[in-house]
Amino acid sequence: MKALEERILKDGQVLGENILKVDSFLTHQVDFRLMKEMGQVLADAYRSKEITKVVTIEASGIAPAVYVAESLEVPMIFAKKHKNITMTEGILTAEVYSFTKQVTSTVSIASKFLSSEDRVLIVDDFLANGQAAKGLIDIIQRAGAQVAGVGIIIEKSFQDGRQLLLDAGVPVTSLARIEKFQDGQVVFAPADI
Ligand code: G4P
Repeated sequence: MKALEERILKDGQVLGENILKVDSFLTHQVDFRLMKEMGQVLADAYRSKEITKVVTIEASGIAPAVYVAESLEVPMIFAKKHKNITMTEGILTAEVYSFTKQVTSTVSIASKFLSSEDRVLIVDDFLANGQAAKGLIDIIQRAGAQVAGVGIIIEKSFQDGRQLLLDAGVPVTSLARIEKFQDGQVVFAPADI
């Protein structure tokens, strides 16, 4: 998506070997105009799939996911990383290891929000090694629901996430795909949209 690639080139900062800082519009401060446009584009890509729920993981997945959900006119559910005292009944959990952060978190969704009637679109801000999306797929499938696809804002295509998800039989749609970082600059691979 051209507007996103332009914004990454304008405001993104490459940190070290493989991290892109995009806190001015995506992961900390949110540009709602760009976010809404991105939400519509991802929603359009899955509009024919009769999606009933959008699922993401807290925290930075929530903003893009809510705009996708708005455009599809379905609820958005975000998996929680911390146990909440109000989550007392039927919780589905998965262990997610982050190679980037080198921590394992237990993510959970209350089972009452997913059923065998649901066709789910997973949305997240970054796709790196695919562990977060894999954990969500696990939870959704254990609830008996179908995963229609994974919609990503920024994919780091030099990491294994896309392949992991494709191997699990789940289509991936990324608005920007980063082939590599070269001398502190972002080099894009052709995006899906
Ligand atoms: P994976 O889920 O694809 O395996 O990714 P990985 O474990 O490597 O990354 C996990 C966390 O790090 C995610 O945030 C993800 O958004 C973030 N992340 C990965 N690569 C980048 C990057 O290049 N730039 C930025 N800004 N973030 C990156 P999270 O643990 O879900 O936490 P939160 O920040 O959403 O709360």
